[in-house]
Amino acid sequence: MDVGDRLRTLRAAIEQHNHQYYDLDAPLLSDAEYDRLFGELLALEAEHPDLLSADSPTQRVGGAPQPEFSPVAHAMPMLSLNNAFADEEVAAFDRRVREGLAAEGDIAYSAEPKFDGLAISLAYEDGILRRGATRGDGSTGEDVTANLRTLRSIPLRLLGSGWPPRLEVRGEVLMWRSDFARLNERQREKGDKEFVNPRNAAAGALRQLDPRITATRPLRFFAYGLGAVEGGHLPATHSALLEQLAGWGFPVASERRRVSGLAGLLAYYQEIGSRRAALPYDIDGVVYKLDDLAAQARLGFVARAPRFAVAHKFPAEEALTELLDISIQVGRTGALTPVARLKPVFVGGVTVTNATLHNEDEIRRKDVRIGDTVVVRRAGDVIPEVARVLLEKRPADAREFVMPQTCPVCASSVVRSHDEKSGTGGTVVARCSGGLFCPAQRKQALWHFASRRAMDIEGLGDKIVEQLVDLDIVRTPADLYRLGLLALANLERMADKSANNLLAAIENSKRPPLARFIYALGIRNVGETTARELARHFGSLERLLAADDAQLTQVPDVGPTVAQCIRQFFSEPHNLEVIAQLCAPGGVVPQQAEGVAPVDSALAGKIFVLTGTLPSLTRDAAGQMIMAAGGKLSASVSKKTDFVVAGSEAGSKLEKAQQLGVPVIDQGQLLALLNVSSAEEPGA
Ligand code: IVH
Repeated sequence: MDVGDRLRTLRAAIEQHNHQYYDLDAPLLSDAEYDRLFGELLALEAEHPDLLSADSPTQRVGGAPQPEFSPVAHAMPMLSLNNAFADEEVAAFDRRVREGLAAEGDIAYSAEPKFDGLAISLAYEDGILRRGATRGDGSTGEDVTANLRTLRSIPLRLLGSGWPPRLEVRGEVLMWRSDFARLNERQREKGDKEFVNPRNAAAGALRQLDPRITATRPLRFFAYGLGAVEGGHLPATHSALLEQLAGWGFPVASERRRVSGLAGLLAYYQEIGSRRAALPYDIDGVVYKLDDLAAQARLGFVARAPRFAVAHKFPAEEALTELLDISIQVGRTGALTPVARLKPVFVGGVTVTNATLHNEDEIRRKDVRIGDTVVVRRAGDVIPEVARVLLEKRPADAREFVMPQTCPVCASSVVRSHDEKSGTGGTVVARCSGGLFCPAQRKQALWHFASRRAMDIEGLGDKIVEQLVDLDIVRTPADLYRLGLLALANLERMADKSANNLLAAIENSKRPPLARFIYALGIRNVGETTARELARHFGSLERLLAADDAQLTQVPDVGPTVAQCIRQFFSEPHNLEVIAQLCAPGGVVPQQAEGVAPVDSALAGKIFVLTGTLPSLTRDAAGQMIMAAGGKLSASVSKKTDFVVAGSEAGSKLEKAQQLGVPVIDQGQLLALLNVSSAEEPGA
């Protein structure tokens, strides 16, 4: 083969593999094979510098710095979208579209996420990327071609065929949340300033005069439409256009969907809203576009926005408010968590008055003071947190927070220790040393004991526990099994009927699987998985109680730290007494057999990692099925992982599995492994 041909073949192959890897999340090659192709291309180009071309994938690394960005006049203005917040506004949009088209019946729309990044334009001539520009003021942007070339998700040369000779593709540049977190970690290690959010980090990276810096920032791109086009044929609908763009090598959101009528739009909004927190990138709403492109042209524009499209925004996840005070919450294991008391603020769709500050280090790191104006963040169902401080708004009398020396609930002394889980380099946690003497810890221990995944005592909510502890009716879990109707029925908001129901629920909880019983004890660092392993390994409570460090560390998942926590717990006379009372005749009898798979099951000991959204199983359900079959769950992928079960929108865990060569399976393959036909699948 002639050198020119080989160069072309290599370049095309590498671009195809980039597309498979970055856009489709489905690499066809191992990293080593990819590197070999890339190496061959580099070597050939070095031998034949005359054959080097700007569309070669080797040219993504970033060229020389520029003195400034040149202005680019957009052939077609880059407009914005009108926003809708309430369903009624969406209904009005749909009505206007129907009236404008004199249409009868439901309209077909293309719905897609509204990416929270930066709009850019990519101009291709004869399939080669010639110019990339920012939106700027909509009429004139900046030429950031050199920077955009460094994004592996942007094709330098279009794949496939049939593209118009002049084609302007528009879309959004953004940073994935996981990449953003890693970038900030790097910034922190270097002592550099951290970025505020993925969008700002992306904006900063895009506007670097030195493309070599941009090349080190993990930017991604999604295409969502076209600008100026000359020649060629285009599909008749927006949804088909997105398919076509994908065929030419552009990433398009896999959440895109063709929907029908107002009901279809609102259902899509609900669905994406519920998946928002699980997406790998930030979105601030969804966009609805009339699917028929000819009809779009008929409707045209008003002022700076199209009539044929609308952005349906989600409630903002961040809001400004005043930090009125910092108080302390005592957790189940005695950890003292500083909580910000806030002037009520509407964020993430709810009114927030408290937000976590995590720990003392975090307060120092963010330099949070009482009286500050702060940014509160509430993303998805995550607990609201104080994200950052607006230093420029700090009042002169802002006060620094000091962690108390004694527990605010029981006045026991506060001790500081490293968080075992994160090792010595980890965060320092302040803890109340009062143990179950401390009412706050007692309440949480009881609540944990009764919770669904532990002893599953329905009806023993936090309000009841609170009263039982405050009135000193219940001090330990064993006291629950001595409760009588009289004591319960006299509690606030408790009628005879609910008291009876609660007593029945307590009675019904007396035969828990051993694993749940161990979990219910609330031993520090013993979560559900470890509890299950302990139950499986020792088979009975007596044998677990008698185990020494050496025996404990033979259990998968149990290292020296966890073993020490277990030994500490069982060497505490108070704990042994509670266990003895619980298991006294007529009391709780932990059941060994149920839920524990025989050790020779095909999946015994196999380690699974779940990632992404599975088609019909919740992750919880899939996890329960794996554990019931003797498999184990892990939160992160390592060489020890046996299988990664990936659903849609699987992100970095999938990448990691591919890097490490860990087998990746889908829901169907998982069910096959579990020997479940889809007819038996829960909920099917
Ligand atoms: S279509 C005529 N689709 O939202 C405008 N825009 O307010 C056509 N955006 O700056 C834009 N995701 O960068 C469109 N799926 C999407 C989008 C999207 C984010 C941004 C876009 C623009 C802004 C419009």
